[in-house]
This record gives sequence, structure tokens and C-alpha cells, in this order.
Amino acid sequence: MKRVSTSILTLDKEDAVKTFYDLEVAHTDMFHIDVMDGKFVERDTSELMKDYATTLSHITNLGLDVHFMVENIEEYIDDYIDLNPEYISFHIEASKTKERTIENINTIKENGIKAALAISPDTSIDEVKEYIPYLHMILVMTVVPGKGGQKLIPETLEKVKELRKYLEEENYDIDIEVDGGINAETSEAAKEAGADILVAGSYILSSENFKEAISNLKE
Ligand code: DX5
Ligand code: ZN
Repeated sequence: MKRVSTSILTLDKEDAVKTFYDLEVAHTDMFHIDVMDGKFVERDTSELMKDYATTLSHITNLGLDVHFMVENIEEYIDDYIDLNPEYISFHIEASKTKERTIENINTIKENGIKAALAISPDTSIDEVKEYIPYLHMILVMTVVPGKGGQKLIPETLEKVKELRKYLEEENYDIDIEVDGGINAETSEAAKEAGADILVAGSYILSSENFKEAISNLKE
């Protein structure tokens, strides 16, 4: 069974807590937290996401799936450790050196959190291959990071296929997460390509019935 991680980036702030409860009742598997620093991407969501993640850590047992789109990865890891998320993903494009990448992966794991590397649409999977033995998940961005509500870039699913093939050949048991432009149609292609975890924001949040939307993605 595929898992769904609902991106709360585009939710209505006034209704945040009610929406969190509704998503839980609708069987989201995780909450996807898009942390943006205004440097790696234009938007800065760091305060808002910290607030949401803190609230969620108090009111739900579901996992927090934290996606850093930030340059100063170390600073944000420190910031999120106490919230005990299920995953922390950070971008390979923002990671300065191989040593730092390994160090950050280790810090995340030593705190009982699953570690993931994220790749933007223009980044090849070759950039992350050497880290796979140390990771729990690879996040393949299916849109350019920065905002919700964009269209999935079809070529990114070729990378998902390529990665799935590589993981099978090398016998690595880690998950592939896709993020951006996932809806009832694109989710089919994403699963076909080999995705295990589907992040979806606007498709779920703009639907009349969260439960139906989430089950459409999982099926
Ligand atoms: C984009 C974010 C995504 C985004 C997904 O930078 O990483 O998580 O919010 O939203 P939708 O599903 O609307 O593309
Ligand atoms: Zn994301």
C-alpha cells in the first residue's frame, strides 16, 4: 500500500487546526511540512511551518515528514530535532560538501529520525547514489521547489523509474517519495514509475472530500 503525505503548505491558516484533525480522520499517513528559507527558494515559510509542526506534534501521533528547502541545513536540523519528526529531507543541491552531507544524515539518524535526500528536477540521481546506503528515503521533486499548485514535470518520473531500477539492482530497501503536482491522474504514473510515498497538497486541500481524495491517491 502506498502512503500519502499531505502537504500543508497551501492550507487556510484560519482553519489550520480543524484541517489537521480532518486530514487525520481522512487517513493521511503523514503531514508534509515544507520549510523554505527565502534563500534556497524565494518564499520564506520557516516561521509558519515551525508553528504548524509544533502544533501537529502536540495533537497527532501521525508522522511529520519535514522537507527542508533551505541553505543552512544544520541550523534547521537543530530546530526540528525536538519535534521528533518521522523524516527529515534536505536538498543535495544545498549541501556544501560530502563531509557535511554525511554529517547531517548522521545527526538526523542519531536523533531517531529517518534521513532523506531531496533532488530538484534538474538534478540527476547520480548525485545521491553514494549516500543511498545511509538513507531511508529519496525525495524526487516532481516540480521546481518553491510553491504548491504547480504541474508535475513528466521527465521527473523517468528519474523515479531509473532510481527504482537502481534500488532493485543493488538491493537497497529504501522508499521513493514524489512531491509536486500529484493528483488522481499523475499519481497513477508516479506509482507506475515506482514511487512509494506520494506528497500532495493542493489536490487534497482543494477537494470537497479529503477521505476520497486520499484514497484516490492510495488506490
Ligand atoms: C513545493 C513543495 C511541495 C508542494 C506540493 O516546493 O515541496 O510539497 O507544496 O504541493 P502540490 O501538491 O500543490 O504541488
Ligand atoms: Zn515538499
